[in-house]
Amino acid sequence: MADALYRFPEGFLWGTATAAHHVEGNCNNSWSHWENLENGIIYQNQKHGIAVDWWGGRWREDFDRMHYLGHNTHRLSIEWSRVEPQPGVIDEAAVRQYREMLEGLHERGIRPMVTLHHFTNPMWLEDEGGWVVPSVVDRFQRWTEIVVEHFGDIIDLWCTFNEPMVYAVQAYLVGFFYPGKRNPWKMYQAAEMLLRAHAVAYQVIKEKYPQAEVGLAKHIVIFDTIWPHFINRGPVWLARRIFNQAFLDALATGELRLPLRKRVMLPDITNTLDYIGLNYYQRYRGGFSPTAPKTFFLTQTPDPESPPSPPMWGEIYPQGTFEVIKNMWQKLRKPIYITETGTPDFGDDVRRWYIAMAVREIWRAVNFNIPVKGIYYWTLMDNFEWIAAYNPQFRFGLYATDFETQARTIRRSGELYRAISLANGLSSEMVREYVPELTERLFQGEPGQSEVNRSS
Ligand code: BGC
Repeated sequence: MADALYRFPEGFLWGTATAAHHVEGNCNNSWSHWENLENGIIYQNQKHGIAVDWWGGRWREDFDRMHYLGHNTHRLSIEWSRVEPQPGVIDEAAVRQYREMLEGLHERGIRPMVTLHHFTNPMWLEDEGGWVVPSVVDRFQRWTEIVVEHFGDIIDLWCTFNEPMVYAVQAYLVGFFYPGKRNPWKMYQAAEMLLRAHAVAYQVIKEKYPQAEVGLAKHIVIFDTIWPHFINRGPVWLARRIFNQAFLDALATGELRLPLRKRVMLPDITNTLDYIGLNYYQRYRGGFSPTAPKTFFLTQTPDPESPPSPPMWGEIYPQGTFEVIKNMWQKLRKPIYITETGTPDFGDDVRRWYIAMAVREIWRAVNFNIPVKGIYYWTLMDNFEWIAAYNPQFRFGLYATDFETQARTIRRSGELYRAISLANGLSSEMVREYVPELTERLFQGEPGQSEVNRSS
């Protein structure tokens, strides 16, 4: 039988994403402080330790793995606390190592996308008041200048912030990240500072490198109500507004509007995106629960047909990918990179299905003329996962990592993603081989659930 192919445009970027604290190890001047408090928030009070040992040199073998996977891009972050361990003090050895790593990517034909802030802050910045004091914007400006000065010649794709609203919520609303605050006003304040810092960073990069592509990675969650009853709509509306929409609206209009807060005008923020990054993983189908303030008074009830997911993760729902891409495009009209998508799956039972579904959804967007330019699967290999630490339920890797020996073993899902990347598309043969249960759905015209029009 002739092979059918969901083909992607020439030059499409295929890769994975990582962040410094997940992979480098021995990052002892930032998030480790939170780990060392042993306050019971992190799974079994675990520490990141050597993680997957990139700082010890294993980045080389892992960059070779990216090459084996047929990748032409990789998203990574530069750890602020390593390069600027004290205010205004540069660690030259760290600069050398990052340069070597970035050059190592280029040598393998892999274009780096560099994130300037992926959830971690130097402790000196936390001591100054973290993301709720206005001086943080100047601090971030200086940090961006440092990165531009030392690495700007070998980076042309920049991501200022990873999931700024997730960071603001985790650090200042639900208390899962340092400084562990539970205060909505501080969360709002942090959101404003993050927007201001993004705008300043954009200008710093573009001034020196006008051709560079600069954007940020925005996490979108699909929030749905289960019962269309007024009592459930309120918290779902609130979650969408705060989590999904406020930040994007501010980037589009220059006005930050958050519930119960005076609107803030940020005229400098418009026109500070060359692209928008989308991090998409899951859906929460919710009902109102007065006893769940940590989750915006929502309890979630996944569709019984969906694969099982770990606690607090929400519903594994690649079927929503097209819908969120479309909404983002309609709001911003900017090129889109899928800066993260993936699923936790220790046994690799669900990941092949997830990847095939997500890739097909992204292909639909491309074929509706939405300029999606690349996909970064989260993540290359199992690594340290924030408050889930090394909890086996939160393994996202295309490669399994044995944390005792540091051995990596490719999973079947890794082989599937490799085949897709090398072919620049998803073929019926791949689906028959790796996810036979999807053959009919993906190659015989059955409409997916995501064709139902809904706003996220
Ligand atoms: C974050 C990653 C994280 C991943 C899986 C994303 O929201 O950017 O740092 O590991 O989700 O939880």
